[in-house]
Amino acid sequence: MLLFFSSICIMLENLQKKWKVSASQLGLILCTFAVTGSLTAYISRSITSWIGFDENTLLLWRILLRMGVLIFGYQVIILIVAFLFGQFPFFWNYEKKILHRMGLLKSLKISNEKFNVAIFASGAGSNAKKIIEHFENHPFIDISLVVCNKPGAGVIHIASNANIPLMMIERHIFLDTDKYVQDIKNQGITHIVLAGFLWKIPQTLIAAFPEHILNIHPALLPKYGGKGMYGSHVHEAVIAAGEPFSGISIHLVDEQYDHGQTLFQAEVPISADDTPDSLAAKIHVLEHEHYPLVIEGWILGSTF
Ligand code: GAR
Repeated sequence: MLLFFSSICIMLENLQKKWKVSASQLGLILCTFAVTGSLTAYISRSITSWIGFDENTLLLWRILLRMGVLIFGYQVIILIVAFLFGQFPFFWNYEKKILHRMGLLKSLKISNEKFNVAIFASGAGSNAKKIIEHFENHPFIDISLVVCNKPGAGVIHIASNANIPLMMIERHIFLDTDKYVQDIKNQGITHIVLAGFLWKIPQTLIAAFPEHILNIHPALLPKYGGKGMYGSHVHEAVIAAGEPFSGISIHLVDEQYDHGQTLFQAEVPISADDTPDSLAAKIHVLEHEHYPLVIEGWILGSTF
């Protein structure tokens, strides 16, 4: 019995991670599936008897009618039930993916709902690379721009290899003007993700993209965040403090360093022989595994 319950818990935890949803949202999603299943079966039975099909009707006709309701009716019913449970955005994205896989999306002309993402990065760009790879050929999300503040940074080559337009930005322009904000808007950018971008985001940019800028920080915020806490400085401080764990935090950007609402965290244990470099490597593994998926869930409307 205990084994049964612990397998159910593990299964639920895996679903939660896969869909990047909170425990309460997972509950509502599962309720939506359960209610939709029963309602579809009931409607399918009612339609069959309303049409007058009975045991004398050819079995093939009965099966075809039932299958029609189950396959097509289900897709409509699930959206209605999802709406009642407050889960319409989650299920609508799910439906759009199915339609896309069936090749129906273009003919329904709803494929123009693309989100355009700008990646801001200052360094090697390993996160930027993973994000670009993840969204290659994505039906709803395009990585449309890379913004970099450091001449010679690795991310410049990553953008050029992926044929993504690059915007180089200087410090005084970034901090004291807002023309570049308009340029970014004019390029149709809807979301910004920071992937190792080491300047504080100015108020003008935050005001132009409210709640639409995401950052990844290589520690478990609120600890080891703030001014000067970036890259190896973070890992040195974590090891010097003798922490047993470190990890990553993915959060919305507000006016303060590493401060906005945290959407996702993941941990990694620190062993006695870890150095800042070995910890950085462990953290990069976590970042590459989770950041693209969290970005996808955030943009497509999942709540966390
Ligand atoms: C990443 O570990 C990211 O979390 C960190 O910079 C690294 C960039 O690596 N960001 C910060 O420290 C922001 N405070 P990458 O260039 O290989 O993606």
